[in-house]
Amino acid sequence: MTVTADLPQVLVIDDEMGPRESLRMLLKPNYQVHTADSVERGLELLSEKKPDAIVMDIRMPGMTGIEGLRRIRQIDPHLSVIMLTGFGALETAKEALRLGANDYISKPFDAREMREVISRNVERTRLHRTSENAASEIKELNNRLLQELAQKERLASLGQASAEFVHDIGNPLTIVWGYVQLLAKKLEDSENKDTSNGSNKELEIIEQNVRLCRDLLTMWQSYGSSDAAPHRPVSISEIVAEVVKSVGAMAKESSVKLSCDLTDDPCSLNGDAVQITRAIQNVIINAIQASTEAKGTIEVSCIRKDFYVDVRVADTGHGIQPEQISKIFDPYFTTKQGKSGTGLGLYITKKVIEDHSGSIKVDSTARVGTTITIRLPLLSS
Ligand SMILES: Nc1ncnc2c1ncn2[C@@H]1O[C@H](COP(=O)(O)OP(=O)(O)OP(=O)(O)O)[C@@H](O)[C@H]1O
Ligand SMILES: [Mg+2]
Repeated sequence: MTVTADLPQVLVIDDEMGPRESLRMLLKPNYQVHTADSVERGLELLSEKKPDAIVMDIRMPGMTGIEGLRRIRQIDPHLSVIMLTGFGALETAKEALRLGANDYISKPFDAREMREVISRNVERTRLHRTSENAASEIKELNNRLLQELAQKERLASLGQASAEFVHDIGNPLTIVWGYVQLLAKKLEDSENKDTSNGSNKELEIIEQNVRLCRDLLTMWQSYGSSDAAPHRPVSISEIVAEVVKSVGAMAKESSVKLSCDLTDDPCSLNGDAVQITRAIQNVIINAIQASTEAKGTIEVSCIRKDFYVDVRVADTGHGIQPEQISKIFDPYFTTKQGKSGTGLGLYITKKVIEDHSGSIKVDSTARVGTTITIRLPLLSS
């Protein structure tokens, strides 16, 4: 069975019924044929049906085929138009070709020749349309690539700025590091080293975090030029304890009650201590920031289960709106506009945890609180 909708379409424009109908009969098995008895009607069918070829008589009362050809070219410059000329009217045929007809056939036409000419011209229109589509697809692709390139250029300049930042921060940090060590030594030597004022404990925290900054800086300096730091055995319990200790002052300053429940087990895994520290620090700092207004509480726990450890940070802060939960791990998503939030904290955390074959889960209720659970696989002991 022939499905006419898939067949190429031919529009026949001829005022005489004889040639019009005989063309319809001749072409029907291979084409969808539309017929018009005048140029005006033909032009209507042209916009309606978008044919693949037109067969048009030159001599017609009213608007002639030559005028029709001019109009067709204005609507579609690439559609194949075959002119039907009177027998021996070579001059008219030439004129039609000069005006943009693609072919001509003399009346009375030969059926085989007519089929050949139409098939060739239908193919011509279709090829043209396909290449036109391809050209517009290429243009679209080109536009998209240009947009991507512009974005890459923005990222490249950001990369350059980051490299300069990493470089610039290095010197003052080295100076701070030197003074921290000097101060630690002085404190140790001083007569008041009995810790009654607790200063050396605080200095220890400062020292640890300046060291972390230096390690992070080293990591960023080697970014892209070498492989990631080799994984070594690290204790998750120890890292959590250190982070909780180092953010203690910040929590106190914000009137947030921070408590910590750690397992005795070291919870060891092969990993990168600097990375895991920054991952856990991001989560706990978020919890403090979310709980500040409500003067809430934060419970950090580290619980070992068979082959993995769960680090849980549960706060009673402002919580996360349901429609925002799926976005919090996206880079640059932040609700702390104007409060120096970059929106990179949880994105980095997730990346680090996944680099250690772990997972991170969030449970949150707006105005009630948030619990973030980091699950990491452990070394078998
Ligand atoms: N414990 C939490 N309670 C409520 N909202 C949170 C909590 N943790 C994260 N969020 C929400 O997720 C967003 C993204 O957090 P993320 O740590 O990635 O970026 P940030 O904290 O906004 O910025 P930055 O980490 O650079 O300071 C936050 O802006 C906040 O809306
Ligand atoms: Mg954050």
